[in-house]
Amino acid sequence: TVGRMDRWDMSRMPAFSDPSQQNQSDQTPLRIGVMASGNGSNFEALAQAIDAGTLAAEIRLLVVNNPGCGAQQRAQRLGIPCTVLDHRVLRERERLDQALVDCFRSAAVEVIVMAGWMRIVTPVLINGFADRLVNIHPSLLPSFKGLDGIGQALAAGVKITGCSVHLVTAELDGGPILAQAAVPVEERDTHTSLSERVHQAEHRLLPEAINAMIPVWRQG
Ligand code: GAR
Repeated sequence: TVGRMDRWDMSRMPAFSDPSQQNQSDQTPLRIGVMASGNGSNFEALAQAIDAGTLAAEIRLLVVNNPGCGAQQRAQRLGIPCTVLDHRVLRERERLDQALVDCFRSAAVEVIVMAGWMRIVTPVLINGFADRLVNIHPSLLPSFKGLDGIGQALAAGVKITGCSVHLVTAELDGGPILAQAAVPVEERDTHTSLSERVHQAEHRLLPEAINAMIPVWRQG
């Protein structure tokens, strides 16, 4: 379900019912930056949605923290610029986050998407892109925050889990939820099989949620 922002500040919402209230002036693609640590399938799903015309955006830059990771290889194949900011080199979280802000500002990025970014972020990044930093998490938040949302769901024995797209605030995985998709847990599910189905849901949900937010970001 996309667009359930009832727990968020509704005054930020454009008046969809009144076209005159919408900012029609900027129809250019939303300039997004992506952060990834691993395989990068969500990053590629964003690129595919852009190609398919369902996400009115362009990916200006991918930043990865693990040199040679799947996301970096995908960027190479897709011809999308990629910068490596290795957390083993930029050891302090704030320094890493300042470097991220600098990179994305240089690339004129309007919105950042954390697509499998497995580092805790600090106010340096959160405040640098306030209300413009999006995360995807593999659970129905507020359940199963933190590491291994899939494993946590299996351990808890829930019959339904899923994925959430949310704005990033100082509270870990606790920012306003933009969209969620439910995924039933089957009796025979393993970590691998459930993770696969949650990923499929993520690949649909993330581009859809970002596209739905474009009028909000462009108005603000
Ligand atoms: C995704 O399932 C995403 O929800 C999760 O990492 C995976 C990355 O997959 N993110 C988190 O757990 C953040 N705490 P991908 O590299 O194939 O896109």
